[in-house]
Amino acid sequence: MALRTILVEGNPTLNKVSRPVVKFDDRLHVLLDDMVETLRDANGVGLAAPQVGILRRVVIVDTGEEILELINPQIVEQSGEQVGLEGCLSVPGKYGIVTRPNVVKVRAQDREGLWYEAEGEGLIARAFCHELEHLDGHLYTEKAERFLTQEELEAMYQEDEEEE
Ligand code: NI
Repeated sequence: MALRTILVEGNPTLNKVSRPVVKFDDRLHVLLDDMVETLRDANGVGLAAPQVGILRRVVIVDTGEEILELINPQIVEQSGEQVGLEGCLSVPGKYGIVTRPNVVKVRAQDREGLWYEAEGEGLIARAFCHELEHLDGHLYTEKAERFLTQEELEAMYQEDEEEE
């Protein structure tokens, strides 16, 4: 396994539409393993293949219990609404307020090509929406209602330190 470089906002690859995965081969498995390692190293919740420069419809989301590997994912059901804080490993140091559905069900293939469904609530539902948008070349910054100010950011980092 190896760490991959995470592309940052401004890199044109992040604005491109990713292609479906058709081969569930070793190359895909290496990509997934590398993405898991990269996500853990960056302490993130989710990562999409275009963020590491691969324009394929591959996403991983860490639910806290397991890492879901979502290949060719689609949202099949969504309900409710949540308004909350969102960030992105490709937009370091920035956080915005984004409205998302509160419960989201996705249908995707696993690393062997088998279809399955996964349902997420709250943060996980938010991650599903956020990561799937990366596959169509969109960043959350396009839909953020506003961004945290420097003061709000400092207060947030301070709270994090107090919790630790
Ligand atoms: Ni992101």
